[in-house]
Amino acid sequence: MNSLNVGIIGCGNISGIYLQNIPAYHGLNLRACADMRPEVAQAQASRHGIEAMSVDQLLASDEIDLVVNLTIPSAHFGVSFAALSAGKHVFSEKPLAVDFEQGRRLVDEAEARGLHLGSAPDTFLGGGGRLARKLVDDGAIGRVLSGTAFLMSHGMEHWHPDPEFFFKPGGGPILDMAPYYLSTLVNLIGPVKRVFAMSSIGFPERIVTAESPRKGQSITVETPTHVTALLEFASGAQVTFCMSWDVWKHSHPAIEIYGSEGSMRVPDPNFFGGQVEVTERGGDWRAVDSGEMPLGAPNWRSPNWAADVPAKANYRALGLADLSSAVLNGTPHRSSGRLGLHVLEVMHSILEGAATGQPKAITTTLERPAILEDNEAAGLWKGLPEAASAA
Ligand SMILES: NC(=O)c1ccc[n+]([C@@H]2O[C@H](COP(=O)([O-])OP(=O)(O)OC[C@H]3O[C@@H](n4cnc5c(N)ncnc54)[C@H](O)[C@@H]3O)[C@@H](O)[C@H]2O)c1
Repeated sequence: MNSLNVGIIGCGNISGIYLQNIPAYHGLNLRACADMRPEVAQAQASRHGIEAMSVDQLLASDEIDLVVNLTIPSAHFGVSFAALSAGKHVFSEKPLAVDFEQGRRLVDEAEARGLHLGSAPDTFLGGGGRLARKLVDDGAIGRVLSGTAFLMSHGMEHWHPDPEFFFKPGGGPILDMAPYYLSTLVNLIGPVKRVFAMSSIGFPERIVTAESPRKGQSITVETPTHVTALLEFASGAQVTFCMSWDVWKHSHPAIEIYGSEGSMRVPDPNFFGGQVEVTERGGDWRAVDSGEMPLGAPNWRSPNWAADVPAKANYRALGLADLSSAVLNGTPHRSSGRLGLHVLEVMHSILEGAATGQPKAITTTLERPAILEDNEAAGLWKGLPEAASAA
């Protein structure tokens, strides 16, 4: 066997980029998709020349080796657990599950069955994330002492056609966006040991302004939308961490880390490429671009962006190729369920710590993901067919 047959469950907003990119990777053979709404599965299947199935058919099919779970967060556990129970490898969009105990059950179930469980985000494996990791490991900024991470915006209701889940328990900027920042920080610094946090809801009601059937509808906010935390890493590094959908404008870079010998600006962890900037002690910022690196070149623009926003690197499905290579070639599995579980525990600990005012110790731990060398990354990517890359 030189590839895994892939079936997607959940054919909503994010499914398009997966359906586009999966055929561009070695080790993946896109076969089928399913959704609880059969008509959206049929539409995506027709667009991408694959078979539409019901969820039960896809899970029962002997032809599917790997299930990609692109449902909404509250459905992640049920769909992933059912797929593991059906003997399939699973890659889940983030978060791994809404509930930490459910996340742990998924990891245990996969391990008990000898299956691979992967979890988004896989962005830290792109050119930008690999470049930052290499510079840290090469000692460019010395020992990492501290850092900052900021994701601040005014929410999701202006672009997502059905944004309700973002403002309910299981949503919020922590469970939705912190996985990118935490996975990147764990990749650079190692596991988190303890968190302190505070949170608030700045706007108790949101009105959908995205052009969609839900435009004008009101959403009652039931989860914190502004969360500030202090993360203490096992290495001793301390990172100030703020995720908010209550901020109109700000000037903070996504992630900065401060070392004994210099400072580093890490590219936006929501994307696969970008520039790393480093200083030697108090010297000027020196920019190193990942655009020439495998899986670092800008290749994608969001339809929601203004015309002057430049293209960015979007190689979603890289985590599936990483999982497939682990299954087929025995290479390390990097965007793994264990990493997803650690990130999930940190996120819940932040939310619980904010609710109780108490610091929370983190019980899960792991080694930093194995380095993905440039030649290995290049070897995973076949490239997009011309029609798709022009789209
Ligand atoms: N939209 C994005 O830009 C984006 C980016 C990165 C990650 N994600 C993640 O991807 C996931 C999906 O997000 P989305 O924006 O595509 O959501 P969405 O609401 O647009 O699509 C989710 C789809 O899953 C289907 N679904 C829900 N429960 C199901 C079930 N039990 N069985 C079968 N199908 C089910 C829905 O019918 C829907 O078509 C979320 O975990 C989100 O965090 C989204």
